[in-house]
Order: sequence, then C-alpha cells, then structure tokens
Amino acid sequence: MKRISSSRNRCLWSVSVFGFMGCLYCIHLLFMINQSLVFLPDETSEFPNNHDHNDDVDLASEEELKFPTFSSTGLATDGGANLLQKFLDKDSEIRTFIFPDATNAIDPRKGNDQFYYYPGRIWLDLDGNPIQAHGGGILYDKISRKYYWYGENKNGPTKAGLIKDLPRVDIVGVGCYSSNDLWTWKNEGIVLKAEETNKNHDLYKTNVLERPKVIYNEETGKYVMWMHIDNGYYNKAAVGVAISGSPTGPFSYLYSMNPHGFDSRDMTVFKDDDGTAYLFYDSLHNLDMHVSQLSRDYLHVTNVVKILVGKHREAPAVFKHRAMYYMITSGCTGWAPNEALVHVAESIMGPWEVLGNPCVGANKIFRDATFFSQSTFVLPMPGAPPGTFVFLADRWKPEDLRDSRYVWLPLTVEQEAYSESPGDPVIPEVSIYWHKRWKIPYKRSSNDSSSKFLIP
Ligand code: GAL
Repeated sequence: MKRISSSRNRCLWSVSVFGFMGCLYCIHLLFMINQSLVFLPDETSEFPNNHDHNDDVDLASEEELKFPTFSSTGLATDGGANLLQKFLDKDSEIRTFIFPDATNAIDPRKGNDQFYYYPGRIWLDLDGNPIQAHGGGILYDKISRKYYWYGENKNGPTKAGLIKDLPRVDIVGVGCYSSNDLWTWKNEGIVLKAEETNKNHDLYKTNVLERPKVIYNEETGKYVMWMHIDNGYYNKAAVGVAISGSPTGPFSYLYSMNPHGFDSRDMTVFKDDDGTAYLFYDSLHNLDMHVSQLSRDYLHVTNVVKILVGKHREAPAVFKHRAMYYMITSGCTGWAPNEALVHVAESIMGPWEVLGNPCVGANKIFRDATFFSQSTFVLPMPGAPPGTFVFLADRWKPEDLRDSRYVWLPLTVEQEAYSESPGDPVIPEVSIYWHKRWKIPYKRSSNDSSSKFLIP
C-alpha cells in the first residue's frame, strides 16, 4: 500500500515535472514562431482602397499579413542596410522567398486560381513556358481588341558583362504576348530579332536592347517601337526605333540616335489622349531626365525639356489621370532594387514635382525596395474606377536574368487627397499596394469561364 502510494507519488511528481517542462517547451516554441514572423504594420493591403464598388465587382483578396524576418541574415534588424548585398547574394536565405520556385508558378492552363496575380512567382504562357517580356510595356490594340505585352526576351545564358558586376544576356529580341484578360498570355513570338552575323548592326547579339515600348499611330496605321540601344559598355547610350503594320510584327528596325545629341539610357514612351506622343529618356549618365514630344508619325524627336534635373532617376513609367501626369521612377542601382518615387506634373513638359515613395503595405524593407522590383510601365486598370491602374515592375535576378520575375500590383491615384493647410493647392496621393495575391476586379459574364474584360 505504502509502496503503491509512494510509486503513485513518484508518478504524479514526474507527470508534474514533465508537464511543467512541456509547458516551458511550448512557450519557447511559441516564442520561436513569433520570432520568425513579422506582423506587418497596420496598413491594410485591401484593394482597391477608398473606392466604392458594386457588389458584382470581384474584389481582390487580402494579403496574408505575415512575412518571414530572415533574422539570421540580419535583414529584419538592420533596417535594410544589407538589403542590396542580400538580394545580390544568390545563396542568401531571402532568395527562396523573393524568387519562389517553379512548383507554384502561375499557370493559366490550370483551372484553379484563375486571374490571380502572385507578384514574383514564375508566370507561364499558354504553352507552359515562362513569359519572356522583361523591362516591358503593354499596348491595348483597339483594332484586334487585345492587349499586347512587349518586353526583352532574355531566354539565354547570363554572362559576365563588359562592365564589372553587371551581368548580361546577349540580345535575343523583343518578345510579344497577346491577351484578352491581362492574365492569360499567348506567345506571339519574337517580333524584333537579334542580328546574328552583322557585327556593325545595333541589334548584334553582344549589344544591348532594353525597355522596348510600342505605341500605335492612328495617322500612319503603324505600330512604333522605341527602345534603349547600347553597346556592351553602355557608352553608345542611344534610343532605337522600329516599325510594323501589325502588333505582332515583324518589326523593321529603322535606326538609333542620340536624341538631341544627348546620351540616352533608360527610357519610355507615353501616348496622350489627343494622340501626341512623348519620349522620356535618361541623360548625362542618368543625372537628368529629358522629355521630348515625338513627330506626328512617332518616328523622330522634336523639342526637348530637362526634367528631374540632377535627380539620378531611371526606369520611368508615365501615366495620366484627370489632366495630371504621373511618373514612377527608380534609383540607379543596376539590377538591384531600390526605393521608387512618384512624380507629378500639370504639363507633361514639366515642371515635375516629387511626391515621395508610393509603396504601401508589406513592411518597410519591402516598401523601400519597391517590393524588390523596378518600375517599367503603368496601365489603366480595365473595369476598375478611374484613377485605378496596374503597376508593372521587374524583379531582376542578376545571376540568371532569364528567370527575372514580374511584379504587377494595383496602383491608385487620389487627386483630391490632401492640402497642407486650407487654401493650399491639393496634393494628389499615388499608392502602390503590396499584395501577395490579387486580381483585377473586372466584371465577368454570368457563366464566367470566359476571360473577357469589358473592353474599354
Ligand atoms: C538598370 C536599368 C535596366 C538595365 C540594368 C542593367 O538600372 O533600369 O534597364 O539597364 O540597369 O544595366
């Protein structure tokens, strides 16, 4: 009896000790889990923000408000100071998070997850191949009632460049994809090809072709492509022009030039509502940006104005809302991401004013690195209220540029946002909202398996 009771006591004692240790372990575990997650600040990533919607408009989903801290890299605790090194270090633990592998690629051939964008994931075309349209832009073609996505096809090996620490891929050409819904993309092939044999040609494969953009000229009926043309040392610094009678090419390469005698690197073109088009290009080793109205046929530059003087900005993406012009730019850090800025102007020829970093949501590190991407284009969002756009950016992968990713996110402009004090001019607010997963809130037909937009 005594033995039984003492062994029961021993048993109770061990149960309590192990129970207590178990509790400690659980607390420790919870603490560890908590350490490995960052709960984001209170900005909601709900989209669209401050806009009313009809019930039948499908709202984008919310971000899961969690991010790993990557604590062992010091990323979370150093305020992002090591960000560029960590981004460039292909063995860094942030890489699997920033560049998810092919297992969860966006694949429109599969029925699930239809129309959802996952910024940074591999995105497949209708043949099941990763889309190759980097540094690109989108044209909505009223004739075929389709969207065309043009960009750098970088489907070749990444090599050491002639400039130290600036890897490159030989020119393959300009890739073109078509779509009705901005999500399902058909590969239309390479619409402007690299030159394989003539070493004196601008498009000879060891040169540089970047940031192609296409606009349609109603007067001539031609699709006109402008692009950055350079040599391997990036000291030709020119802009190239090509032309086609069809959005799917082939485009004929016309020439390159140093516009107004200046060097020209990152660039874009913007077509205004009245059909006037403009070239924006970086000059003086990216110190200033220039804007020039194009000739009526879009094949030449006319006058030029310096904007963003001494600001060292690149990767311009220009858009318009209610008679005001906006531009997103990046800093100049090659393939590595940095902080975006948004600029605003009442006249496209300037003056342009800086509004600040438009990135909202995620965490500070993400916002300060433009969600690990660099601007390339801004597109009005079909089916959404005025002032709603899609921000298109590139998440470059320096050691394997063909595996660079696309970051598409909703962007809103609130033009009556705020004034510093009553009577002061109103300052608009431009916001790019981080979403891990989202979709365009367009209306669909009742038997919704078709992916047609209400075309603008
Ligand atoms: C970036 C630029 C890209 C590409 C890259 C490498 O800054 O925006 O288009 O030129 O540098 O040179």
